[in-house]
Amino acid sequence: GFSWKLPDHPKLPKDKIIGLIVLDGWGEANPDRYNCIHVAETPTMDSLKKGAPEHWRLLRAHGKAVGLPTEDDMGNSEVGHNALGAGRIYAQGAKLVDLALESGKIYEGEGFKYIKESFETGTLHLIGLLSDGGVHSRLDQVQLLLKGASERGAKRIRVHILTDGRDVLDGSSVGFVETLENDLAKLREKGIDAQIASGGGRMYVTMDRYENDWEVVKRGWDAQVLGEAPHKFKNALEAVKTLRAEPKANDQYLPPFVIVDDSGKSVGPIVDGDAVVTFNFRADRMVMIAKALEYENFDKFDRVRFPKIRYAGMLQYDGELKLPSHYLVSPPEIERTSGEYLVHNGVRTFACSETVKFGHVTFFWNGNRSGYFNSEMEEYVEIPSDSGITFNVQPKMKAIEIAEKARDAILSRKFHQVRVNLPNGDMVGHTGDIEATVVACKAADDAVKMILDAIEQVGGIYVVTADHGNAEDMVKRSKSGEPLLDKSGKIQILTSHTLQPVPIAIGGPGLAPGVRFRNDVPTGGLANVAATVINLHGYEAPSDYETTLIEVVDG
Ligand code: 3PG
Ligand code: CO
Repeated sequence: GFSWKLPDHPKLPKDKIIGLIVLDGWGEANPDRYNCIHVAETPTMDSLKKGAPEHWRLLRAHGKAVGLPTEDDMGNSEVGHNALGAGRIYAQGAKLVDLALESGKIYEGEGFKYIKESFETGTLHLIGLLSDGGVHSRLDQVQLLLKGASERGAKRIRVHILTDGRDVLDGSSVGFVETLENDLAKLREKGIDAQIASGGGRMYVTMDRYENDWEVVKRGWDAQVLGEAPHKFKNALEAVKTLRAEPKANDQYLPPFVIVDDSGKSVGPIVDGDAVVTFNFRADRMVMIAKALEYENFDKFDRVRFPKIRYAGMLQYDGELKLPSHYLVSPPEIERTSGEYLVHNGVRTFACSETVKFGHVTFFWNGNRSGYFNSEMEEYVEIPSDSGITFNVQPKMKAIEIAEKARDAILSRKFHQVRVNLPNGDMVGHTGDIEATVVACKAADDAVKMILDAIEQVGGIYVVTADHGNAEDMVKRSKSGEPLLDKSGKIQILTSHTLQPVPIAIGGPGLAPGVRFRNDVPTGGLANVAATVINLHGYEAPSDYETTLIEVVDG
């Protein structure tokens, strides 16, 4: 029968203290001026690379290696941390929604049947990120869902858009709105009353995560549910173009707006009897709005009205909370993650990051499951992030505070695994501010040093890796790798993640002599890390995990 007990590793000892560092948004790319990791002073990461080829290598962190539909899909933190923690490659939300739409199964599921009951008398509202980034959502999926729902009885449809500019180029929101408007116009020709009802930038409206700032969700609620916003427009294209023309405006931070009719009334508040779908497949930035839409008891902000609606997520976003309770597509069944095995085998874990990435090393790491497996064996520490700022003004973020917590946890010798996420390369990279991203990379490198020093002191082992690329390339490039210029001759800043591989380094005084990276796993990716770490804790990995990256040679 099944057992949580892992076999002893034949050669590697137990009870070593492992410092497991995930640099967020830290890929490997050619050195040039748009590679902020190269430009920054990063002596610690440089020395890991130069030191020992058998202890440093690259890993795949994008596309199929992390369960995304195609090799053109850049990596992201959800799929990256899922792979790191679970040790296996799961078809991820993006892929599962594609399959459900392609086969039509999405319309046969419980979730669609549930919302469909409102189609006769209510409005169908779609809320989500409008882009083709493929990280949280995809426009082509929304297009198919609109078509499918209207063919199955939805007569009145309102779309509440969130503009992107973070997983896609800034400014691309205009084109996505045009595409959506075209589709909605076609629906109107067929007699369906369909239009965009509200909008706002994803980082300012609705898509907060890990309860960093409920005001963000409230702004969305006011526009989407109450039909109230500081800006009112006759149509969404005009809204986005006008708001983007403000000084310093960008897609990520557009203020909330509502679309109003000729009498000035908002065209699509959410009211009793309506159906609502949040069409993002990715979990982290949907959990908060899902709570607001679903929970009867809710005290995070004054909802003013709590309409009686039928609500479904594109996916279920939190497996532990079972939130939302209705969903169109079942999420990947990520189970038996490395964290769960470790608590069953007496391995004590400490995990830490600051708010904006805290759920990455806990919730995502544990297969989109909130909470502890066993609170006696685990301690998770969240350092409050600065909220209400873009991180280019504070590029060091809380890197040193995270490193201090990790250092103290290591020196306390209370834990076998001390795991952190260092957010700087990613969070500052997403702002598109190259100078600030250079500062961010140095700050992350300083934090790595502090943790490695602590590992040195306790005779431990370090594993340093990353979840996907970002800071190593800040410019959009042609196929041949040349920076692309816009019409005015300026480079096009890349705020998004990349397709680049990420480094992994192992070492420390506790690393048994003879441990080295195998050279027969050339296509290794993030999912190979879990088995590797389990080995370093002194155990064999479960047999269905992706293979370990290391071998132990006698010598
Ligand atoms: C975000 O949600 O901030 C970006 O879309 C993706 O960034 P992450 O995958 O690094 O969290
Ligand atoms: Co990111």
